[in-house]
Amino acid sequence: MLEIKNLQVNYGPINALKEVTMTIEKNKINAIIGVNGAGKSTLLNTISGLVDPDQGEISYKGRQIQNIPVEKRVKLGIGHVMEGRRLFKDQSVHDNLLIGFYFRNPKEKRRNALLKINEIYKQFPILGNKQNQMAGTLSGGQQQILIISAALLSEPDLLLLDEPSLGLAPIIIDEVYQLLEELKSKGMTIIISEQMAALALRISDVGYILERGQVVKKGDRSYLKSLLDSDGLSSVYLGKAKV
Ligand SMILES: Nc1ncnc2c1ncn2[C@@H]1O[C@H](COP(=O)(O)OP(=O)(O)O)[C@@H](O)[C@H]1O
Ligand SMILES: [Mg+2]
Repeated sequence: MLEIKNLQVNYGPINALKEVTMTIEKNKINAIIGVNGAGKSTLLNTISGLVDPDQGEISYKGRQIQNIPVEKRVKLGIGHVMEGRRLFKDQSVHDNLLIGFYFRNPKEKRRNALLKINEIYKQFPILGNKQNQMAGTLSGGQQQILIISAALLSEPDLLLLDEPSLGLAPIIIDEVYQLLEELKSKGMTIIISEQMAALALRISDVGYILERGQVVKKGDRSYLKSLLDSDGLSSVYLGKAKV
């Protein structure tokens, strides 16, 4: 689905990513785990095209994409929910979806936007029922679903979510994770970044641990869980919460 080879990103003198190589598996939830500053956002931003790599290759469905612009990557099926993405709380649910759509597809016809938004209302009736309400009046979980729905409007095959649980109450994290599992069951490939391994491993099939821009561990959920349980690897970034 997505092959990343020797990816390197520098911000001036800062090496944010160093020779990152990974294979993102189709129809799985792939986790990128690392503390603040490890390079998670840089990695996701480089995949979606917001950041240009200094070196390396990204191939998506067999095609090299590292030099093509963001909008084209959206058209190829890469959706991205950026870190700290917020709603326009004093705009309606409907207008939030329109804004989210045009942010990603600036040249599309309005008719297409409305068609896609109607599909979202079918998929998430709660959003349809509340389409004229201010987004700020939705529950926390509904607000997250609205944020993710804006990315779903472009019908991505690959969805990137940068710390989707950040700042959310546990019950809302459950709702968001449940939605991600539903999306996976419909065939989507998902990459989430999280600071806490214990949290990410609740839903991820495979994961990569990123430390100072480098992949230091990778493996499937059971392997990463075993690392979490072993005292030898009780690093801060793994978190101590039970999986
Ligand atoms: N726009 C930027 N300019 C300069 N340095 C940056 C920028 N964005 C991130 N960095 C630095 O790159 C490193 C990786 O950051 P980031 O990708 O945001 O990590 P994470 O998402 O894991 O917290 C950090 O050292 C951070 O300070
Ligand atoms: Mg980040």
